[in-house]
Amino acid sequence: MNAHRPVVLITGASGGIGADLARIFAREGHDLALVARSGDRLEALAAEIAATGRARPFVLPLDLAQPQACEALALALDEAGLTPTMLINNAGFGLAGRAAMLERAGQIEMIDLNIRALTELTLRFMPAVIAGRGRIMNVASVAGFLPGPGMAVYYASKAYVVSFSQALSQELEGSDVTVTALCPGVTATDFHARAGLDASLLKNMPSMSSMVVAQAGYDGLMKGRRLVVPGLFNRLTTRLLPFMPNGLLLPVMARMQERRKGK
Ligand SMILES: NC(=O)c1ccc[n+]([C@@H]2O[C@H](COP(=O)([O-])OP(=O)(O)OC[C@H]3O[C@@H](n4cnc5c(N)ncnc54)[C@H](OP(=O)(O)O)[C@@H]3O)[C@@H](O)[C@H]2O)c1
Repeated sequence: MNAHRPVVLITGASGGIGADLARIFAREGHDLALVARSGDRLEALAAEIAATGRARPFVLPLDLAQPQACEALALALDEAGLTPTMLINNAGFGLAGRAAMLERAGQIEMIDLNIRALTELTLRFMPAVIAGRGRIMNVASVAGFLPGPGMAVYYASKAYVVSFSQALSQELEGSDVTVTALCPGVTATDFHARAGLDASLLKNMPSMSSMVVAQAGYDGLMKGRRLVVPGLFNRLTTRLLPFMPNGLLLPVMARMQERRKGK
């Protein structure tokens, strides 16, 4: 018998979309386990949630790009008597610049976080999610539907997340467990600063707030949607641009990415 307390595990919850997902899940009465590298920001969010009268989230500062991090997370949850019956793989980052110009280590770290950690956490916790008839949400991106010259590894990592999530949702059909890929477009968070994108250009682009994106993700997850693309512009992008011949699409994407990159 499993006496562990069920929690929603959210990675990358110290800011942006992940922090707003945590606020929404807490408001809806879920107990939470929150992970990111910044312990102080996680503690502040836990205190904010506790101050609303909800259970104080379990927080664990952890660099999920490190090889042993998922193992350490599983052990820490077990020791705390917690079982993730919902898993929200949100932690991720991008780097802007041509692959040949960017440092190799940072690009590999992107794969470690955006792909390897997301996959490892999904595989590790899938039995608990299935047993708890829970749900999984992987935060992908509109970038997952297109090749992204100028952010090649990031776009490719998100294509993996879309593909992996959709395939898993089919494999789990009939099990009561749903898998959702949340695919935001440009969203106003710290993502752009970390990626080395020119944040001032955000003003001239159709961008969404992290709370609006998180709410769309939560609603879609609870409805068991396979794919959630918040915003009409983003939905059109994911449906129409993949039909453009690569000979036209690739130079357009390269020019767009070049303009978005900070000096
Ligand atoms: N913002 C956008 O325009 C946009 C668009 C499409 C998709 N997305 C995706 O949305 C997700 C959330 O990003 P965001 O926009 O909310 O950006 P953000 O504000 O930078 O949040 C990223 C989160 O991931 C955490 N994180 C980063 N590296 C980590 C690591 N090595 N280990 C553990 N946690 C780590 C960060 O916390 P720490 O720094 O404290 O570790 C933070 O909590 C990402 O997967 C991103 O790719 C964003």
